[in-house]
Amino acid sequence: MWALIARSIVFSFLFHCSFQLLPLPDFIHPCYELTDECFTKATLDAIPGVVKGIPEAGIPALDPLIIDKNISIELPGNLKMQFINAKLAGLSTCVPDKVSSRREKRMFIFDMHCNFTIRGLYSLRGRLLLFNLDTDGYAKIKIWNQHIRLEVVEKVVRNKAGVGHYKINSYKYKADYGSDLKMNLTNLIRGNPDISANLLQVLNRDSQLFANEFGGPILDYAIDYAMNVTQRFFNAYAYDQLSPIPLTDDFFVKD
Ligand SMILES: *[C@@H]1O[C@H](CO)[C@@H](O)[C@H](O)[C@H]1NC(C)=O
Ligand SMILES: *[C@@H]1O[C@H](CO)[C@@H](O)[C@H](O)[C@H]1NC(C)=O
Ligand SMILES: *[C@@H]1O[C@H](CO)[C@@H](O)[C@H](O)[C@H]1NC(C)=O
Ligand SMILES: *[C@@H]1O[C@H](CO)[C@@H](O)[C@H](O)[C@H]1NC(C)=O
Repeated sequence: MWALIARSIVFSFLFHCSFQLLPLPDFIHPCYELTDECFTKATLDAIPGVVKGIPEAGIPALDPLIIDKNISIELPGNLKMQFINAKLAGLSTCVPDKVSSRREKRMFIFDMHCNFTIRGLYSLRGRLLLFNLDTDGYAKIKIWNQHIRLEVVEKVVRNKAGVGHYKINSYKYKADYGSDLKMNLTNLIRGNPDISANLLQVLNRDSQLFANEFGGPILDYAIDYAMNVTQRFFNAYAYDQLSPIPLTDDFFVKD
């Protein structure tokens, strides 16, 4: 993580000093028309390449995404769950349903769906059905067709050399439960594999009830991470490279 940040600082430093633009990767297809069709297609084209990582722009591979902090989740019934060393796989499966731009609000809206798998160690404390749990084990959670609607507000900032770059001002997102969720938690009842397996079955029957609580904190992390990466991308490539439609001067903000 720090190595990456250091590298992207070095990159933007080199960039500002030499004013040399990195060539745009061939999977980035700028839109000559500001239509939903073009933005949706461009996003579809960009996802596989971006997810593989763009080392020259300081962008690491994103699938799986390694979550470098422990994520705490509060579940109904005073249950506390923690994910330790979790990995999120599936960003490369994301399919944009519709991407549109509200140019007057400087907003992009991404509607997409993805299949995610979360793997890692978990710990669980609290009451679940009839059981007082104080356990830990291995977790694997699959979510199918998680729908995400992401709104990103951006501006264009001109650096000292007069080169414009996108800057993410703010973002927010909404996600639904997905069409299905299956979890596998080992050792739910410490040392009792049979009851553990039964309890897991019961949980999976009502897994939609947990989907939001599970998905939320991990998705918060993933989207924050993706936004950080997107900003790194915008720092590496100029507005003019990404968008052939010239902006009027009032769009620019001085650095
Ligand atoms: C995460 O939790 C584990 C086990 O409780 C602990 O060893 C580790 O230091 C924690 N990691 C972070 C980044 O807090
Ligand atoms: C998600 O998985 C389902 C079932 O395996 C598959 O039909 C669907 O195409 C996948 N969706 C994405 C966005 O990869
Ligand atoms: C859950 O994972 C464990 C360990 O990987 C495996 O042995 C078990 O068969 C899995 N259970 C289910 C219901 O998939
Ligand atoms: C995103 O960047 C901010 C600011 O540098 C940082 O505080 C945050 O931890 C980063 N998020 C992730 C998920 O890496």
